[in-house]
Amino acid sequence: MSANRLLPPLTQIPAQIASIGDYESYARPRMTDSAWAYLQGASGDELTCADNKAAFDRIRIRQRVLSDLRGAHTRLELLGHRWDFPIMLAPVAFQKLAHQQGEEATVLAASAIGAGMVVSTQSSVSLEDLARAASRPLWFQLYIQPDRDFTLELVRRAEASAYQALVLTVDSPVNGLRNREQRAGFCLPAGIEAVNLKGMQHPGTHVAQAGGSPVFGSGALEAAPTWSDLGALVESTRLPVLVKGITHPQDARMAIDHGAAGIIVSNHGGRTLDGLPATVDALPQVVDAVEGRVPVMLDGGIRRGSDVFKAIALGAQAVLVGRPYVHALAAAGAAGVAHVLHILRTELEITMALAGTRTLADIDRSALWT
Ligand code: FNR
Ligand code: LAC
Repeated sequence: MSANRLLPPLTQIPAQIASIGDYESYARPRMTDSAWAYLQGASGDELTCADNKAAFDRIRIRQRVLSDLRGAHTRLELLGHRWDFPIMLAPVAFQKLAHQQGEEATVLAASAIGAGMVVSTQSSVSLEDLARAASRPLWFQLYIQPDRDFTLELVRRAEASAYQALVLTVDSPVNGLRNREQRAGFCLPAGIEAVNLKGMQHPGTHVAQAGGSPVFGSGALEAAPTWSDLGALVESTRLPVLVKGITHPQDARMAIDHGAAGIIVSNHGGRTLDGLPATVDALPQVVDAVEGRVPVMLDGGIRRGSDVFKAIALGAQAVLVGRPYVHALAAAGAAGVAHVLHILRTELEITMALAGTRTLADIDRSALWT
């Protein structure tokens, strides 16, 4: 799809859109081939990405009938704040690739529905503009930059804009092998950039050696973050720091030892290391290791309210959704994103009612068929 043949966003939501997966085919003709490869793609053979969803599809629910469901609700408290439901928008970079308004439309939708939203370090609208557009506080996803002073400035900016938490993404010291992007020749079009990172100095001290090691010789890993950066970050801010990109129980323990206020089990939607397990398969081990010391969240492959239910049954407090809301953004802007949240919420409530669970606390491992 070339840029000049793209369909405009929908002005009405078609009645045929019943589940969030239905948005995908409406998004496709509204994005360029290159942007689609970036949004939809994962790393390598995309095995982990596919497994995120397949693993949810393998799990079955154990239904209880004739339960008393009066007063049922999906409320929860997370890091001292109350939410009406346990579904947030995951950090997704460069949302102007999907819709002219980009993250600004997403923020409006999240605010209207009362959903949490994590703003990416690499958002295409500035973190300050997004905070101004939001009617409820946001979380900021942080990538530690090679320049640690600049990284601290980002933290200060997030604090000054009343962001409520930092989400430190730790699973990608280098980019994954994005073969689909390579094949499509993905690059950012003019006018779309990581505006939060404007003015950052790129350390140009390391010169790649001809004939040298392609990644290890490139200097890319010299400034990659380590556990001590997590400790330093926690020390440097009053905001709670959640760590995103954990699949190993020992890493969950280490993150807590270094001051993490929450763990997000994530494989980056399969975009980093292809071959990682599905997040819902990794979740129980992490939950066991965390022993309730901090909240555990999950993302990757959430496509139905029943997936939210399954993740909660396995010990997640809440989940985040990525690609599907960006499909809806491309298809119909803020209204589409709000609709995705509404659908997921509705599906979760229907699943809970049919399974005989009245509150999130009632959803535990016994609610799954083993
Ligand atoms: C992401 N993700 C991501 N994560 C992050 O911490 N910072 C970021 O900037 C981005 N950017 C980004 C761009 C795009 C196009 C995608 C699809 C994903 C990962 C994201 O937060 C989340 O982990 C996954 O998207 C969850 O998987 P699903 O819901 O897409 O299956
Ligand atoms: C991605 C980066 C921006 O997944 O996190 O594309």
